[in-house]
Amino acid sequence: MNKAAAPPSFVAPEKAVAPVEHEGEERTVSGVAQIGDKQIDHALRPRSLNEMIGQERLREKIEVLVEAARQRGDALDHVLVYGPPGLGKTTLSHILANEMGANLKVTAGPAIEKAGDLAAILTNLRKGDLLFIDEIHRLGRAVEEILYPAMEDYSLNIVVGTGPGARNIQLKLPKFTVVGATTRLALLTSPLRARFGVVERFDFYDHAALQQIVQRAAGLLQVEIEESGAAEIARRARGTPRIALRLLRRVRDFAQVRADGHINVEVAQQALQLLDVDDLGLDDLDRRVLDSLINKFGGGPTGLDTLAASISEEGDTIMDVVEPYLLQLGFLDRTPRGRMATRAAYAHLGVEYPDTPVQGKLLAPFFEAPPANAPTEPES
Ligand SMILES: Nc1ncnc2c1ncn2[C@@H]1O[C@H](COP(=O)(O)OP(=O)(O)OP(=O)(O)O)[C@@H](O)[C@H]1O
Ligand SMILES: [Mg+2]
Repeated sequence: MNKAAAPPSFVAPEKAVAPVEHEGEERTVSGVAQIGDKQIDHALRPRSLNEMIGQERLREKIEVLVEAARQRGDALDHVLVYGPPGLGKTTLSHILANEMGANLKVTAGPAIEKAGDLAAILTNLRKGDLLFIDEIHRLGRAVEEILYPAMEDYSLNIVVGTGPGARNIQLKLPKFTVVGATTRLALLTSPLRARFGVVERFDFYDHAALQQIVQRAAGLLQVEIEESGAAEIARRARGTPRIALRLLRRVRDFAQVRADGHINVEVAQQALQLLDVDDLGLDDLDRRVLDSLINKFGGGPTGLDTLAASISEEGDTIMDVVEPYLLQLGFLDRTPRGRMATRAAYAHLGVEYPDTPVQGKLLAPFFEAPPANAPTEPES
């Protein structure tokens, strides 16, 4: 059904793109790609819409889009996908290319430094090609200016030469499709966003879908796993396939050493406990955030940066890698006055929910307590 598309060609691989650096990137439960994920990501990637699990809403829309373009013999409309890391944005770009039988060129915002870099990429495109631009919010201004007319009416405006001899040249480009991906939709400029005919969000996956993803991957990796074992991994994967697959790898190692390689629910539980991932998929960093919010700030509201500083982390780290999942669990509320812990968060930490919330009053020392023999202030 799918024409086998040529393997994607990588643009400027020497400028291999480092993803936005986050502290906490090496957390087992981070959705951000880690070194060990790369190979497995590639091997386990679904290749067609049919193989893609979950994301029904998005999948249906994409199906219609692809079918309509195929019937018309036309290139796809420009597609922008956004959502937290590890949910399948890159995967979808490969699937789109496969489904359209098109060539995929892969690049990323930070890899395109100058307008000329983009011009070189664009002039090498052929009719119907897909250009995947990862981290598209990180394109420079000058580069974006080139991209607007290229996306809108397939024309490339470049200046050749410098000084009085400079000339403006306009080149016609073949009809191609940009697939843009970003984890930060808000950072995209509005003119760029307006050039996409289709803008789609990736949602976190439900447990059933993640369980299927784990089982499919176990099959491909020839790992013996019981349904209950897969369910246990799915439950702790924070709605994210990349995390589910990483946990599966770690549990497989554990099973190999301690349980003849067979994964059942007990083995999965023991392995995940050893990794310090609790039964909702929270790790130490998540628990420190909740603990500080509840025990130091009386549940909030507390500003993000204050909260981050109280546990010696960066505000960005908290916002990108901790908050999305806590919000999803309903453990955190974002209010205009700051972050607040919900009743569910209190329950998860086993702290009684106060009848009259203290609302943001500092309950405990902001930083670690001073040594016991520190001089105390005289009572006044
Ligand atoms: N719907 C799905 N079904 C099965 N596996 C999936 C699905 N979506 C993603 N995966 C798997 O999850 C992993 C991560 O997906 P992918 O690399 O596409 O995420 P991403 O959204 O591009 O992340 P990033 O923001 O870090 O670039 C891949 O290994 C892929 O195999
Ligand atoms: Mg990606």
